[in-house]
Amino acid sequence: MTRPLVRVIGSVNLDIVASAPSLPRPGETVIGASLTRHPGGKGANQALALARLGADVRLWARTGIDAFADEALALLRAEGVDLSEVIGLPDSHTGVALIGVDAAGENQILVASGANARMRPEDLPPDITEALLCQLECPVEVVAAAIRRARGFVALNLAPYAPMPLDCLQRLDLLVLNEIEAEALGDQVAQAGGAVAITLGAEGARLLRGGRETARVRPPEVRVVDSTGAGDVFTSALMLSLLEGGDDKGALRFACIAAALSATRPGAQTACPTRREVEDLLAGDMT
Ligand code: RIB
Repeated sequence: MTRPLVRVIGSVNLDIVASAPSLPRPGETVIGASLTRHPGGKGANQALALARLGADVRLWARTGIDAFADEALALLRAEGVDLSEVIGLPDSHTGVALIGVDAAGENQILVASGANARMRPEDLPPDITEALLCQLECPVEVVAAAIRRARGFVALNLAPYAPMPLDCLQRLDLLVLNEIEAEALGDQVAQAGGAVAITLGAEGARLLRGGRETARVRPPEVRVVDSTGAGDVFTSALMLSLLEGGDDKGALRFACIAAALSATRPGAQTACPTRREVEDLLAGDMT
């Protein structure tokens, strides 16, 4: 099968992760955490997942010119993602996500956007002819401009939630959001074009078209270690499967299994499964 070509426009972060038995409430200090650092950012995570699962990927992004950038881009480079449109800005820093993870794998994320917030619509490529995937860790006006100039399949992960112009929602072939984001979007969920996937955490996900449910899948039961980036893996796996011609049920199952596998390992990009791992579990799941 030929690998689809996908352009991802989105964020690059370095994730600085503190794992502890419990997460602090506002005003509380929790000690005894262990510290790790991983490449992250929703754009970079989704680019990595697409490449690892079977797409050719070009990432359009902004970083600082600092040591964090090298660390944040290392896995994308190793996976063969085209980084020629990732530009380092001299007067900003690479995005950083401060992440707390508790014993149940739940997380809390605080993002210092840095260069991700400095993307500008006028810097976008004039033509976007390949499939496009965006998220909202970068300015909404950049994402809206990219969607309006895209000529192929367009997917948007509406995370973290921000209102999007209606014409952009209607232009989508795939919208991915969680229950909280779906609630924030309200009536506009039914107005989005193409497929709308709503993730339900441990309950799996639903796929809707024109407001009607076409598929619902429960993921396999796994021991959750860290759910950071599971939504990114889900989004990329679902988009890839639909681009490959998968039907709604099959594509949703592929995405749920990929996301479940990613939650069994620490980190975001570090946790992303290979195509082989997803297909092996899928084969077991079908029997
Ligand atoms: O979706 C997970 C990502 O969100 C993390 O990698 C972190 O960078 C935050 O942006």
